Amino acid sequence: MCGIVGYVGNKKAQSFLISGLKRLEYRGYDSAGIVTLDESGAATLLRAKGKIANLEEKLAKNAKTDKIGIGHTRWATHGEPSEKNAHPHQAGNIYLVHNGIIENYKELKESLKDHRFKSETDTEVLAALINSFYKDGKYPLANAVVQALKLVQGTYGIAVVSRKNPDEIVVARSGSPLVVGVGHDETLIASDASALVGHTKRAIYLNDGEVALVTKNSIEIRTLNSEPVSAKVEEIETNLAAIQKGGYEHFLLKEIMEQPKSLAETLRGRINTKTSTVHLGGPGLSEAELRKIKHLVIVGCGTAYHAGLLAGYYIEQFTPEITVETVIASEYRYRSAYIPKDSVALIVSQSGETADTLACLREIKKQGIKTIGIVNAIGSTIAREVDGGTYVHVGPEISVASTKAFTSQVIAMTMFGITIAQAKGVKSGVLKPYIEEIAKLPKEVENVLSSTNEQIKTIAKKYAKYEHAIYLGRDTAYPASMEGALKLKEISYIDANAYAFGELKHGPLALVDDRFFEVAFLPKGTLFDKAISNVQEVLARGGHVIVVTNEKKFDMPVENVVKITTSIELFAPILMNLVSQLFAYYMTTARGLNVDQPRNLAKSVTVE
Ligand code: M6R
Repeated sequence: MCGIVGYVGNKKAQSFLISGLKRLEYRGYDSAGIVTLDESGAATLLRAKGKIANLEEKLAKNAKTDKIGIGHTRWATHGEPSEKNAHPHQAGNIYLVHNGIIENYKELKESLKDHRFKSETDTEVLAALINSFYKDGKYPLANAVVQALKLVQGTYGIAVVSRKNPDEIVVARSGSPLVVGVGHDETLIASDASALVGHTKRAIYLNDGEVALVTKNSIEIRTLNSEPVSAKVEEIETNLAAIQKGGYEHFLLKEIMEQPKSLAETLRGRINTKTSTVHLGGPGLSEAELRKIKHLVIVGCGTAYHAGLLAGYYIEQFTPEITVETVIASEYRYRSAYIPKDSVALIVSQSGETADTLACLREIKKQGIKTIGIVNAIGSTIAREVDGGTYVHVGPEISVASTKAFTSQVIAMTMFGITIAQAKGVKSGVLKPYIEEIAKLPKEVENVLSSTNEQIKTIAKKYAKYEHAIYLGRDTAYPASMEGALKLKEISYIDANAYAFGELKHGPLALVDDRFFEVAFLPKGTLFDKAISNVQEVLARGGHVIVVTNEKKFDMPVENVVKITTSIELFAPILMNLVSQLFAYYMTTARGLNVDQPRNLAKSVTVE
């Protein structure tokens, strides 16, 4: 969602602000803006609707050598995407950029009679509120920000500059991430560390309720109650190559294709095929604590939720004493669900910033339940607030559609399930096949990607004109089919839904006609024959079926078959999901759409 950048130092602020905003483009936005100040405090404010390229056009006529500034990409919440609603917002001498939502903005606005509002945003209300404490020299800038924030309900990550203090930036966060990059004679601000890569490797991640006053060579952090905070400087691990396309036309294809490598990173040092054991350091649970677990609650949104569903099927297979409930975070946070005390919650999030998932984490912690993060973004809010965790280590995922994170989330959670099973004394003969297949997966993923790529491209061209799709699977292939449908709909805008094969006769079969095509996942196994009967039912009604299977002997007269050659059986649905990822990608390119930044969506959903 929205992105924030800021710079104070000796270089041209505009250059960093624009390049930083471009790095944050992947998060989704519909307008952008920057403001810089010269040494006398004269401001250059540039804002534009649409892409950063539009802002750059304005910049070409307003290039400045100013050494301080803040910038923003806005994803509209209050008020349409437009220049006047784009950030930075001004009130008196101050300029503000803001991520998040000020929930009580209407009440606050009532009390700000002196300010003539020019936008429809909640952010301008916050700017005016800060200014009400700042104008007439009532409070220094940082204190004025604190006074205002004490009145605010909602979430925010903010950066503020003032024409009267053109050498300092005040930043603060509550529920919306902010990172302060520590440079040599320069300090950089970003809502996502990827904007800092290549500028500095040292960063301070602000915590909720903290306010920082930064200059080019000082960073002073306090809480909203004015207690000083001693900042921990952490290393940014991401490198430039990880956030570039690396020769691919789109980030999505790069991220699909790098799964053999990213999955290997997830496994590194965690499985031992000689002893058939899994060792995870991060969760921090003793053998005794692991033994006591009777329930797992898995919480996530979108793809992370699907990963949780699939992992849940596996964990139940090899740990019979455990019940697994996988829940959608936006629902669960408002349910009155009782969580038994012998539970552990897995909090699944690629970005580690998803608002609903974070809210669930906080609710679950209040109930005294141990929380374990299955997170990708290092240093993210969820990663820092969980009791323990297992990073999936897939590197930055830039494309809005999540791909490599899904594969690794499933495996990371399954490995966590195996550590519970080990502690509970589940026989190694039961766990061995899972561990052996997990170890083989990176190579198998590589084979499937390379052997099916061209065929999938060809199939996609045939179906690109359809507007409706049905994905079908059962057992472990059912969550995989849900993920396949999500991938297709979010980037190709085809109306795609997933159904469990067994549910077909309970309603969805009525949909089958020439407007639809069906993608059926048929993994070998005990339910294969039942799924075949379901495909027959679809064919009998004139369905346009694409089958994805690892059964060599499959020979039904369907329109297309993608045969996966693999020795993997248990995790075949993960391999089938690769086919879905490639299919969604090629359908989207065939339809000429924006692959990496689909309309209306943001990479990281930091508001409810
Ligand atoms: O960062 P998170 O894993 O918490 O994000 C959860 C969902 O927003 C995300 O998976 C979303 O569904 C993707 N766009 C799906 O491709």
